[in-house]
Amino acid sequence: MKISNRAIIWGVALAIAGLGAGVSIAQNAPFGNAEDTDYAAKLWKAMEAAHMAGPSAINTLPYEGVEPHGAVLETLFAKATVDGYTGALVVKRNYGPAGVEVATVQADRAKSLGAVTIMFKREAGYDADNQDWFWAKYLPDGSLDKNPKGMQLAGRVAKGAEMGCIACHSAAPGDDYLFTTDNKQ
Ligand code: HEC
Repeated sequence: MKISNRAIIWGVALAIAGLGAGVSIAQNAPFGNAEDTDYAAKLWKAMEAAHMAGPSAINTLPYEGVEPHGAVLETLFAKATVDGYTGALVVKRNYGPAGVEVATVQADRAKSLGAVTIMFKREAGYDADNQDWFWAKYLPDGSLDKNPKGMQLAGRVAKGAEMGCIACHSAAPGDDYLFTTDNKQ
C-alpha cells in the first residue's frame, strides 16, 4: 500500500494539533501547574518565616484527628505574606500512621508528621467560586504531594471534582470552608 505524502502531512498536522490540545488542557487544569507550584514554594518559605513550618515551627497541642487528614492533628491560624500580599493562613499538620497516639506525636513530632495541608486566603478574584482559597498539601520537607495522576497538589485543588479539598470543605459548617472554627470544645 502506498501512503501519499499528503496523507502523511495531514497525519503529522493532526498529531501536532492533538499534542497542542493536550498541553493546553494540562495548563488549564485548576491546580498543579507551574504558577501554582511556584506560588506554593514561596508560601512554604513564608510559612517558615512565620514559624508555621520547618525546623523553627511553633508547636501547639496535638489532638485526635479525623479522616482524611490523620490520626492526630494540629491546626494553626496565622497570616503569611507572598509577593507583598498578606492573607489569612490555616495550617493543618497531619500526623500518622493510623492509630498513632497523641503522646507518641508529642514525643517526636518530626517522626510522626505525614503531611502539612494548608489553606491560604488569596487576593479577591483568585477563585471567586470558592472564597479565594489557595490549597496545598506539602510533604514534611516542603515539597508538594501528588494525586494518583501525578499532579502536584497546589492551587484550586480538585476544583469542579466531586471529591477533594474543595468539594469536601465546601460542606463545612458556617459557609467559610473551615471545619475547626465551628468545633464546640
Ligand atoms: C473528605 C473531606 C476532606 C477532604 C477531602 C479534605 N479535608 Fe481538610 N479538613 C476536613 C475536616 C473534617 C477538617 C477538620 C479536622 C479537625 O477536626 O481538625 C479539615 C481541616 C482542614 C484544615 C484546617 C482548617 C479547617 O477547615 O478546620 C486545612 C488547612 C485543610 N483541612 C486543608 C485541606 C487540603 C489542602 C485538602 C486537600 C489536599 C483537604 N483539606 C482535603 C475534611 C477534608
